[in-house]
Amino acid sequence: MAKVHIVGAGPGDPELLTVKACRVLAQADIVFYDRLVSADVLAAANPAAEFVYAGKDHGDQEVVQPWIHDRLLEYARSGKSVVRLHGGDPCIFGRGAEEWQFLAENGFEVEIIPGVSSATALPALAGIPLTLRGVSRSFAVITGSCRSDESTDWSRYTAVDTLVLLMAVRRRADIASELILAGRPADQPAAFIERGATPAERVVETTLEEIAGAGVEVESPAVLIVGEVVRLRRLLAGELEAVVSAEVC
Ligand SMILES: C[S@@+](CC[C@H](N)C(=O)[O-])C[C@H]1O[C@@H](n2cnc3c(N)ncnc32)[C@H](O)[C@@H]1O
Repeated sequence: MAKVHIVGAGPGDPELLTVKACRVLAQADIVFYDRLVSADVLAAANPAAEFVYAGKDHGDQEVVQPWIHDRLLEYARSGKSVVRLHGGDPCIFGRGAEEWQFLAENGFEVEIIPGVSSATALPALAGIPLTLRGVSRSFAVITGSCRSDESTDWSRYTAVDTLVLLMAVRRRADIASELILAGRPADQPAAFIERGATPAERVVETTLEEIAGAGVEVESPAVLIVGEVVRLRRLLAGELEAVVSAEVC
């Protein structure tokens, strides 16, 4: 029985695909892909493959996900080489693990191929290290989506040096207000990385209080970074003198 590959596509740049992902994509008969998978990444797949869009932007996720499961089962039963392609890493806010479990429960073998997650790659590409000796000893990756936010206790993250928020664009003002209320400094630097790792990438540097005041224009998809490490971006870009050296190292 053919196994199904659940594969991470990385954040958009095809050169951030893993070697293993490239290999299975080149051999795929069916590529079942998400909204955030870029056209450049799809171009790395077997051109003769059947490409099926599994994006969740056309309906309620709780309706679309069972549809995705049904399609996965149908493709797995066909015996063809199936690649289920997720943006970033399949198991970071990607429901790859649920699909893996579903296929395993139905008797299919699954191989997971991790991907480069937007959560860690986009800050690095933008010149924002998530950890740095003397500045940031910890980071947390958190969803800003509404459904999960209903139970988010933002005070849990007050002691975490750097926060990485995915799916936070729509609720950005509320989230920033809640972070300030929970104890983070209002003037703490923050940055949105919009359409990261694509030719349309845009980085917006700001502060928590500006976001809370609804003064920051940004579009989805974007990753929000909150923490002192954001200040390092200009230094790493060569725009500042090495003022940090003694303090930071
Ligand atoms: C459903 S989550 C999927 C995350 C994905 N599994 C990963 O590991 O990157 C979607 C969110 O990831 C972030 N994201 C993914 N790709 C992105 C990109 N190229 N640019 C900016 N944000 C991105 C955004 O916060 C977006 O709302």
